[in-house]
Amino acid sequence: MARVALVTGGSRGIGAAISKELKSKGYDVAATYAGNDEAAAAFTAETGIKTYKWNVADYDESAAGIAKVEAEVGPIDVVVANAGITRDAPFHKMTPQQWKDVIDTNLTGVFNTVHPVWPGMRERKFGRVIVISSINGQKGQFAQVNYAATKAGDLGIVKSLAQEGARAGITANAICPGYIATEMVMAVPEKVRESIIGQIPAGRLGEPEEIARCVGFLASDDAGFINGSTISANGAQFFV
Ligand code: CAA
Repeated sequence: MARVALVTGGSRGIGAAISKELKSKGYDVAATYAGNDEAAAAFTAETGIKTYKWNVADYDESAAGIAKVEAEVGPIDVVVANAGITRDAPFHKMTPQQWKDVIDTNLTGVFNTVHPVWPGMRERKFGRVIVISSINGQKGQFAQVNYAATKAGDLGIVKSLAQEGARAGITANAICPGYIATEMVMAVPEKVRESIIGQIPAGRLGEPEEIARCVGFLASDDAGFINGSTISANGAQFFV
């Protein structure tokens, strides 16, 4: 029987590439989205991947959505916590609301996504938790005190989950993408983006598929002894 994978924020950007990669590897994939019904419908029409709408920042919505996915698709074997937002502003201009929105979605959203699937993974003695962090969680970033805090927090989450899940056949790992050609990066002012590309030794932005292939590997049986790790995929922009 095919394994079941859940990808949050899985109908756009890096998440869409991850959903497609896992489908191509034979997983039954469910992708979540927060609000863009049109993009989600187009994604389902293009790929045949089912989409589910909920807000990862809300625990009850996440738990109910996950229960629905498990009833309709099957028990979740692979969970990819990918959904994330930016609310960039220099710290002196950052509002408490910008702080809260990013913490609720990018950090609490990971808790809300993994916590409901964790008991089933423990019972079945298999699980793959993959959290999409960021280069900016490793190095910090001007105007991203909120975002960098969440992405650094993701690394603490997977290192802790790895220790708790190892005996139950569950691995938890993070991927830190560098700057990838997605809407999120394209929203950065062009001049700033050009200067960022200038800091990437590879001389280009990454492609979403280059992150998706990392997920495909971490989800596989071949990656069973990789636990609590961080894979950096950033074109040599930053080394830990
Ligand atoms: N380093 C140092 N200084 C910087 C800077 C940087 N990276 N970016 C901007 N500044 C400077 C500006 O030049 C400006 O200086 P002056 O006042 O001396 O001219 C000052 O900081 C602030 O400028 P503004 O007051 O005009 O700032 P603003 O309130 O309009 O905010 C901004 C602009 C939000 C910072 C905008 O420049 C921006 O979006 N920057 C990009 C931030 C970024 O890289 N985000 C990553 C998004 S992609 C992502 O998050 C995905 C991932 O995981 C990698």
